[in-house]
Amino acid sequence: YFGLIRGAAMTGVAVAALTAGAAQAQTVMRINVSMPQDGHHGIAIDTFAEQVESLTDGRYQIETFYAGSLGAERESIEGVQLGTLELTFTSTGPVPNFVPELSILDIPFLFRDYEHARGVLDSEIGDELLGRFEAHGIKGLAWADNGFRHMTNDIRPIASPSDLDGLKMRTMESPVHIAAYREFGILPTPMAFPEVFAALQQGVVDGQENPLSVIESNNFDEVQQYLSMTGHVFSPCVFLMNLDMWNQLSEEDQGHFVTAAQAGAEANRARVDADEETAIESMRADGMEIIEDVDRDIFIEALAAVNAQFEEQFGAEEVAAIRDWQ
Ligand code: PAF
Repeated sequence: YFGLIRGAAMTGVAVAALTAGAAQAQTVMRINVSMPQDGHHGIAIDTFAEQVESLTDGRYQIETFYAGSLGAERESIEGVQLGTLELTFTSTGPVPNFVPELSILDIPFLFRDYEHARGVLDSEIGDELLGRFEAHGIKGLAWADNGFRHMTNDIRPIASPSDLDGLKMRTMESPVHIAAYREFGILPTPMAFPEVFAALQQGVVDGQENPLSVIESNNFDEVQQYLSMTGHVFSPCVFLMNLDMWNQLSEEDQGHFVTAAQAGAEANRARVDADEETAIESMRADGMEIIEDVDRDIFIEALAAVNAQFEEQFGAEEVAAIRDWQ
C-alpha cells in the first residue's frame, strides 16, 4: 500500500501516499470481483488496473482483489456507495437494491444475442442507464458482459419450462429474474454467489443459472449433472466507482479512468467470446450432460403475463427501445 494513508477529506475513500523518493503523490485504490482471477471478471479488472496506471503515469495504482475476498457483489456495491471501497466490477444482479430502474436490463429474452446486448449497452441507451448510478453516490464507468445465462441442475435434463416445475434454483437477487423464473415453475432461492457451490454440493438447491464463463470457472460441472442452453437472460457487468472519489479526479484523469474501464470491458468481452467457444466441449468431456436442443419459444411464451407487468413497471416504450434495437 505504499504507506497507505486514508484521506480524511474524503470520508475514508482517498488513499494518498508519497512513494519513497518520488516527488509525485500516488493514490492507491482497490477494485474487486467475486470471480477467480483467471476468468472474464479477472481479466476486466487486471486490464483496467494496467491501463489506469499506464495512462496516469503511475499517479494512480489500482489494487485488484478476486473471488469475493473483499465481499460478494451486493456488499461491494454498498462499499462503493458508502466509500469504504473505491471501485468494483459486478454483474447487475444486486444493482436493483441501489438503482431499481436498472432492472430493465434483467428482463429475460430482452436481447437476441451478444451483438444486440453489446450494441445497446454501448449506445446512448446504455450511456443514459449508466448515468442513473450518479443519483445514488456511484459513478458507472463502463458496461461489460457477464454473459447469457443458462440453467444447470442435478435432477433432470431441462428442455422446456415444464421440466422446471418445482426445481429449487439459486438465483441472483434481481426481482425481475425472480418474478420471471416463478413463471417457469422454478422455486427461486436468492443467495449470494460465494455460498452457491456448497449449496449445490449439499443439495440445499437443485440448480442454478449462470453464463458458461461462470459455470466453467467455478467448476459447477463437479456438482451439477445437467446444463441446458436456455440463454434465458443476458447478464451485464459494470465498472463502478465511488462518486466522491470520481469527482476529485481531474477532468483528464476522469477520461483516463473511463478509457481504462472501456479497455477492461473489451478484454472481458473477448474472454467471454473465447469461453463460449470452448466451455461446452470442455464440460462435456468432464462428464456433464449438455442439453443444446432447448425450445426457447416455449420459454418466451411462459413469460407473457410477467412481461406485461415489466412493461407497466419500466414503460413499454423503454422496453421496446431496447428489444427492437438494431
Ligand atoms: O450469479 C451471480 O451472482 C453472478 O452471475 C456472478 C457469478 C457473481 C458473476 O457476476
